[in-house]
Amino acid sequence: MKQKETVLILDFGGQYSQLIARRVRDLHVYCEIKSFRTPAEEIAAARYKGIIFSGGPDNVYDEDAPKCDKEIFNLGIPVLGICYGAQLMAFSLGGKTDRAEIREYGKTEFQILANSALLHGIEQQSVCWMSHTVYIKTPPAGFHITAVSHTCPVVAMENAEKKLYATQFHPEVEHTVHGKEILHNFLYDICHCSGDWKMDSFIQTTVEQMRKTVGDRNVICALSGGVDSSVAAALVHRAVGKQLICIFVDHGLLRKDEGDEVEHVFRSQFDMNLIRVNAQDRFLKRLSGVSEPEKKRKIIGEEFIRVFEEEAKKIGHVDFLCQGTIYPDVVESGTGNAAVIKSHHNVGGLPKDIGFTGLVEPLRYLFKDEVRKVGTELGLPDNLVWRQPFPGPGLAIRVLGEVTAEKLDLLKDADAIFREEIVKAGLGRKINQYFAVLTGIKSVGVMGDGRTYDNTVALRGVTTTDFMTADWARIPYDVLEKASSRIINEVQNVNRIVYDITSKPPATIEWE
Ligand code: XMP
Repeated sequence: MKQKETVLILDFGGQYSQLIARRVRDLHVYCEIKSFRTPAEEIAAARYKGIIFSGGPDNVYDEDAPKCDKEIFNLGIPVLGICYGAQLMAFSLGGKTDRAEIREYGKTEFQILANSALLHGIEQQSVCWMSHTVYIKTPPAGFHITAVSHTCPVVAMENAEKKLYATQFHPEVEHTVHGKEILHNFLYDICHCSGDWKMDSFIQTTVEQMRKTVGDRNVICALSGGVDSSVAAALVHRAVGKQLICIFVDHGLLRKDEGDEVEHVFRSQFDMNLIRVNAQDRFLKRLSGVSEPEKKRKIIGEEFIRVFEEEAKKIGHVDFLCQGTIYPDVVESGTGNAAVIKSHHNVGGLPKDIGFTGLVEPLRYLFKDEVRKVGTELGLPDNLVWRQPFPGPGLAIRVLGEVTAEKLDLLKDADAIFREEIVKAGLGRKINQYFAVLTGIKSVGVMGDGRTYDNTVALRGVTTTDFMTADWARIPYDVLEKASSRIINEVQNVNRIVYDITSKPPATIEWE
């Protein structure tokens, strides 16, 4: 359910828009991200407590650079412009902006010049994070400069009377030492937010809302064992108990023992109405002889829907479908038009013709870490709440080439050992995703006195914040060594282990 007290983040295509939203919510203020095209009328009608203009990659004086509705500045709602957002505020209101010879990038010292509600309580001299080429030369009439640096004549400016504030730097980035205080000042002292965004109250209001919507009707949910669908199911279950029927399609492409773990949590611990469909043979049959990655993905996606539909039909009439959609899936982006590299599928892509009348999406307004907090509050175990992302097509895209039951078994064992060693080394939450891949390469080795010709397993570990780009994780050699020797010793038919040291781009996280 949406919160009454809301701040708007107007997105100009900057890479940090979602990070700004995260920071605002960490300060207990609910916020949402909308495109820079949002009309002032719509903003006025939504009664936002404040507006934050994000950064963006464009030059503000370029003709096709994103511009907002100028009426926004006259609504009386406090505005904080960040980087491009600051330049746009200056440009739109008659100030002067210019292009610097050299891009200013990185940590920069700045000085506070004047009393300012935005910069209140902050050391007179401190470090901020800059990333810009265009700069504000002269603020618009009615504004005064509140901070400067050696290279930048306007680091911060404001027109307190009109409640308009701007910083050339990024307060949302950790390198800005007092960034959190600056955002706090804006939200609490300038926008007068009360800070009512807390996870326990979110659960309570969502449960009440859901009870009203669902009444005595039924809800079905496709449970995958992933964080989002699990938390969504637990939340709906809290609201409507046995009226929720969860369908867990076990396609046999999950990691070692995962199917049983999911069943145990939801059936025993939560006493949910759970239908587990063991469909491994069915999926393997359809995947037989197929080695092209996109084809494999499509087959799994289609088959998943088919199995789900069949089960749903057995239930009879279905009123609501529960989906684990989360905020980053729905957020309206400012510009950007990302290319499709792989056809992703997850349980969100279910067909609308299975006959339900409404959708229940209890996590629609939450970021991932908020979803995790809700999961913990609801009593889901840590290993589920902190589960690393796992692709819908599962291990099928980690067995390169054709998928067979034998190859899956081998990969499950190798992968379980690698994951166990990572967790033992205390790296479980530091490395964002880590797994094994069965490469399909056979190579020569020697074991005992004999020659072997066996499989090569690749290990992959990445660090990332958004999974759009990623770096390969610097896993300590002794952890890699332990994982490597255990896999060789404990898993049959493997004689070589390699570690993937490619970032994304140019590689992707998964191998297929
Ligand atoms: P790539 O391989 O594209 O993966 O760098 C980025 C992230 O997405 C996950 N992934 C998927 N998730 N359905 C999903 O739900 C899919 O089809 C899928 N393919 C990749 C991948 O594990 C990584 O976290």
